[in-house]
Amino acid sequence: MLNNTTANVICRIVFGRRFEYDDEELQGILRGFFENFSTISGIYRRRICRVVLDFFAAGTETTSTALSWAILYLCLYPDVQTKVQSELDTVVGRGRQPAISDRARLPYCEATLMESMRIRPVLPLSLPHTTSRSVSLGGFTIPQGNDHHPNIWAAHHDPEVWDDPDDFRPERFLENHDSPTVKKNDSWIPFGLGRRECLGAQLAKMESFLLFRDLNSNSS
Ligand code: HEM
Repeated sequence: MLNNTTANVICRIVFGRRFEYDDEELQGILRGFFENFSTISGIYRRRICRVVLDFFAAGTETTSTALSWAILYLCLYPDVQTKVQSELDTVVGRGRQPAISDRARLPYCEATLMESMRIRPVLPLSLPHTTSRSVSLGGFTIPQGNDHHPNIWAAHHDPEVWDDPDDFRPERFLENHDSPTVKKNDSWIPFGLGRRECLGAQLAKMESFLLFRDLNSNSS
């Protein structure tokens, strides 16, 4: 279900429309994506297809996995789930779907999603990179042509940055007890960082936030 939902967001961008989940065209796209792309011919068609496939590959499984972890943690921590639902009830109410403009007024929801992406980053070893030239970093020399994997997991579980890093505690991302706001932390890097940071980070943040709120406002 989450794969269908997140793929539909990409469909909206690529094709300008969404599909019903049992639509044969959508199922065909997903089957093609998961099975085999190699039958496509023609260089331009191939390039366009690759860009579109990049969107699906990078944007479907990642967002749905992030949401799956968030749902699992809400099941494991019913007290957090209660706070999420209570915030939604207070700010959005029952009469309408939450909108992206509600985001700033739902800090506990946002903090819960951030905490879930911290404790279980979707890509714990990010994507591999290769040095195009020799570089010095933190006193080490990394030679040209060296493959490396940025360790997001380590950044998200560093006890010098995070108190009790193995505890699931959305409050660590909140400040101002009376009127809570979301607190940023430079070590929170689920989308990587630098020039090759996730191209879809903004979309993914909005998408996962809306779906997360949708799931929770319908389950209370
Ligand atoms: C929760 C959802 C997502 C997570 C956690 C995530 C995470 C990441 C990470 C860690 C990288 C590697 C960054 C690096 O190399 O330093 C990446 C790259 C990328 N992501 Fe995402 N991503 C998500 C959703 C999306 C979406 C929705 C799209 C597009 C529709 C997308 C498109 C891309 C692309 C194109 C790259 C390669 C960027 C480059 O190499 O320059 N991602 N993502």
